[in-house]
Amino acid sequence: MNVKKIINSKGKKKLSMVTVYSYFQAKMAEEAGIDLLLVGDSYANVMLGYENTLPASMAHLLPVVEAVRRGARNSFVIADMPFMSYQPSESEAIKNAGLFIKAGANAVKLEGGIEVANLAKRLTDYGIPVMGHVGLTPQHVNSIGGYFVQGRSEKSVKRLVESVNALEDAGVFAIVLELVIEEVAKTLTEEVKVPTIGIGSGKYCDGQVLVWHDLLGINTEFKPTFVKHYANLRETIVEALKKYNEEVKSAKFPSGEHSFKEGKE
Ligand code: KIV
Repeated sequence: MNVKKIINSKGKKKLSMVTVYSYFQAKMAEEAGIDLLLVGDSYANVMLGYENTLPASMAHLLPVVEAVRRGARNSFVIADMPFMSYQPSESEAIKNAGLFIKAGANAVKLEGGIEVANLAKRLTDYGIPVMGHVGLTPQHVNSIGGYFVQGRSEKSVKRLVESVNALEDAGVFAIVLELVIEEVAKTLTEEVKVPTIGIGSGKYCDGQVLVWHDLLGINTEFKPTFVKHYANLRETIVEALKKYNEEVKSAKFPSGEHSFKEGKE
């Protein structure tokens, strides 16, 4: 995958994207043929246990991007710009986006519409591909007051249409639509020539993204309706750990085959 192929896929092929936060996750996603790997700021939620994405930082995500690149040498990797890594100033944003590219990312993702369009243009002008992200933007949780479906009012739809157009004019190669009403996501998808990648935004988007821990049934504490569990890894892992715990305690593990014997290699 590259930016041109991603843009050209619109209307021809649906794009798959998943979040990854480690070397082995990246390796497995590449092996599975997933089109786009996102080092999401959801790292703060699912890897660190925070309530929201706001604590994620460059210090957290830079080594993750490096690990993901080592695990998935041929994949298109997108690094999420964490809260306050791009808001303070344009120069700070460009510097931080550049650090992600140097760490191995192919592109960065910015949350926001019209308000980040100028920045998206500057970054693309400097050769840093940008993915947009509109609809629910979790970095705004404190001003929105929660995680609500977007596009319910005429005003909100108008703002979304203006945002996707501004992002497209700025040169983004794709736009995430998060928690947008299905029919509105359809309108937004038809509005732009770049692919839309939906999460909780229905079937008309040009691609879909899910968070690793949701997709694989690791995070089972809360299951929003838009999440589909393709496996029940939490159950599988807990069962395996219980078995290991029992076998250690009953001295069943390690058995002969898992021990080194004198005179044997
Ligand atoms: O950080 C993340 O996981 C994301 C996806 C929800 C798109 O931004």
